[in-house]
Amino acid sequence: SGEEQPNTDIITLTRHVLSDQYKLGAAASGDLTLLLTAIQTTSKFIATNVRKARLINLVGLAGETNVQGEEQKKLDVLSNDIMINSLRASGKTAVLVSEELEEAVVIEDRFKGKYCVVFDPLDGSSNIDAGVNIGTIFGIYHIAPGSDGNISDVLRPGSEMVAAGYTMYGSSANLVLSTGNGVNGYTLDAALGEFILTHPNIKIPSRGKIYSFNEGNSMYFHPPVVNYLNSIKYPPAGKSPYSARYIGSMVADVHRTLLYGGIFGYPDDKKSKSGKLRLLYEAFPMAFLTEQAGGLATTGTKRILDIIPTSIHQRCPVFLGSRDDVQDVMRFFQETK
Ligand code: AHG
Ligand code: MN
Ligand code: MN
Ligand code: MN
Repeated sequence: SGEEQPNTDIITLTRHVLSDQYKLGAAASGDLTLLLTAIQTTSKFIATNVRKARLINLVGLAGETNVQGEEQKKLDVLSNDIMINSLRASGKTAVLVSEELEEAVVIEDRFKGKYCVVFDPLDGSSNIDAGVNIGTIFGIYHIAPGSDGNISDVLRPGSEMVAAGYTMYGSSANLVLSTGNGVNGYTLDAALGEFILTHPNIKIPSRGKIYSFNEGNSMYFHPPVVNYLNSIKYPPAGKSPYSARYIGSMVADVHRTLLYGGIFGYPDDKKSKSGKLRLLYEAFPMAFLTEQAGGLATTGTKRILDIIPTSIHQRCPVFLGSRDDVQDVMRFFQETK
């Protein structure tokens, strides 16, 4: 092993997406590449604000409540505004759905494009003030053939998304993206201001050793979930129990699950009848990425990406991660019927 040469051929996210576009030849207009450039910019902008938050009085509450009844943090509102402004100005979007806005935004004709973006501008709000990892989640649809771009273009199954991803604001900013052809991870080089390909072709291990649930809700959980959790905590003789890891930011918990394997779950229970996570801008993008990485994503009984949404803020139960682990939990749902 000789000395490593410095790398003079870095692959930026834009270069990587463009090379996919060139492979498609005339079929690709480049609009998705431009939209992804806008999204990258929002992630860099949000990342710098996250880093400065404590210094510029950006921690704490904004004073308003969102449509889910959650108190908005200042960073929730700021991140939402950053994304709306940038996505509208990109000229590539037709409909925007944000966790922080009750109604979908239909873009005026002057700026209208062919893509719809559903997003959670700031995921993991409860972790902001403690400096724990947070993120942004997004999913992208192309408007249906013949559509002028309206709400029906986002009330479609997640399997019809053309791309999905998230950016995690942690010790570094990591953007993880799928355009339907596997999953790639990029790390922000803050000096260059570019996301650099650092995690090509992410594949989830087929089985993991970690489970990630808010077990503080155990008294509300339904029997299949209780029984499944018992099975991994009290395994048969000779097998080791799973380790627990729960950050409480979906982005961070899913990121770890993609890289290390295991299972992330936010079930429906006796209190939260449909679970907590939102279908359009939390469950769908993460399910899309998980499947693209070779894993599974289910409500317990149904593939998440097959759900047809009826409203933009609806919730859904989520179990996702390593194929074998998710199949185990599905078996408990079948057996306990
Ligand atoms: P958000 O901060 O965007 O409202 O999302 C919070 C979500 C998600 O990030 C996380 O997985 C989950 O809420 C945690 O919920 P609990 O605090 O109930 O465990
Ligand atoms: Mn919220
Ligand atoms: Mn969220
Ligand atoms: Mn959020």
